[in-house]
Amino acid sequence: MFRDVVSIDDLSDQEIENVFDIADAFLSDMATPEKPYRIQGRASVAEDFILATLFYEPSTRTRMSFESAMLRLGGRVISSADARATSTAKGETIADTVRVTQNYADVIVIRHPWEGAAQVAADYADIPVINAGDGAHEHPTQTLCDLYTLRTAQQPRRGRTTRESLKDLTVVLSGDLRHGRTVHSLAYALARFGARIVPLPAAENYSFPDHVRHRLETDYGCIPVAVDEVLGESLPADVLYVTPEKPHQLSLITSDVAEVSIKLSLKEQKALRSIKGVDFFYATRLQAERKDADEAEIDYPVVNAEFLKKKPYKHSQVMHPLPRVNELSYDLDDDSRGVYFRQAAYGVPVRMALIAALLELRPGLGGPLREKYPIYNRADTLSCPNLQCVTRQSSEQRYLTPQFRIIGQERPVVRCMYCDHEQEPHIISNARSRKYRKETSAWKSIKIDDLVLFSDERDAEQAGHQPVKTDAPVSASHA
Ligand code: NCD
Repeated sequence: MFRDVVSIDDLSDQEIENVFDIADAFLSDMATPEKPYRIQGRASVAEDFILATLFYEPSTRTRMSFESAMLRLGGRVISSADARATSTAKGETIADTVRVTQNYADVIVIRHPWEGAAQVAADYADIPVINAGDGAHEHPTQTLCDLYTLRTAQQPRRGRTTRESLKDLTVVLSGDLRHGRTVHSLAYALARFGARIVPLPAAENYSFPDHVRHRLETDYGCIPVAVDEVLGESLPADVLYVTPEKPHQLSLITSDVAEVSIKLSLKEQKALRSIKGVDFFYATRLQAERKDADEAEIDYPVVNAEFLKKKPYKHSQVMHPLPRVNELSYDLDDDSRGVYFRQAAYGVPVRMALIAALLELRPGLGGPLREKYPIYNRADTLSCPNLQCVTRQSSEQRYLTPQFRIIGQERPVVRCMYCDHEQEPHIISNARSRKYRKETSAWKSIKIDDLVLFSDERDAEQAGHQPVKTDAPVSASHA
């Protein structure tokens, strides 16, 4: 059974660790001591394999490092550098493009402006698909390079494994957190490996979208803590996300931000209070191509040597997925704290390792990961609220049906399986009785297979469902 990497969550912690061990081995075999981060020469690992790159958005690093990685593995590459100039221009759907491409190659790397496009490719291809960035959604392989950089920049001080290296690091994610796909995937991974995340958006409307914030809390157990409680006034951020090792009963710090009592062990609270500064500052550019046309210009923050003189940043290493525009000064290029070019160089060994693992040329990946949430796939009752979602595009709607993960507890909140945007339907109904109600807190009394969700009453009525007349539980007739 082959695997895809569409989200960073398509790899378990152990699999990420294994991929990094493979990358370590490639570097130790193929890099020179003068440039220990740079692969040279050509191995005989993937000689019989072809990688196809389908890029529907501009790219330098990601496409070239994927292609370089495949060539360094001894494999071959076919590339549609500007996939917009392919049959897509003639109206071909993503599903058809990948069903054709799968016969020309052994692994597909796709970048696309629509959120969820890589999931569609993965659903329709019978070879591994790697997401090289889908709109503002995710960019899992950039995250692998970022994690590898974080891990490597810590050695030998913090330990060899990713968890040992990342646990309790304080990492600022700065810039356009709303549209930046790199920071979305990275935030999920940092939470998983126990690093502390300090979101520092360029302006208020560049904060993490609700679904990202919510996922940090629901999927990884992150807890938002008011920054001034731990770092004093020195950091111009409101909130810091901490992932407790396990839920604790003790509750001492109260977070103004979350308005909840934070349940951290004494040890974790002590560790929080002893944070002296930021270990890594991850800068990102304004994603101008995804910004609304009527959005006001903002004073975008710039990271430079002067900025790093501020107390919390004195010992911060600076990362950036690149390309930079104005937000990262050239005066840091020769500063040992600037690790962004090394981060870009790691794109090759890390992607070599991932390709080799996906093609089963190196052991490292297990069977498919277990689905965490029940799936809701009554295609005709809900649509994704995100206009950039692949399921909202007319060309793809001819064959795609929306699907959602049911993640709600109190109420039936659902998350799009393509772009991860969430919504809370206001009507619940039962497929058998076709009786609906507005009181959604009773949703768990309906069997998942019978559950029908609607955004509003009009949709329910249009679908032929009628309001319940009594207060009897919805499922009473067939419980
Ligand atoms: C990033 C991307 O495409 O999301 N670039 C990259 O892959 N290294 C970041 C960006 O374009 O700002």
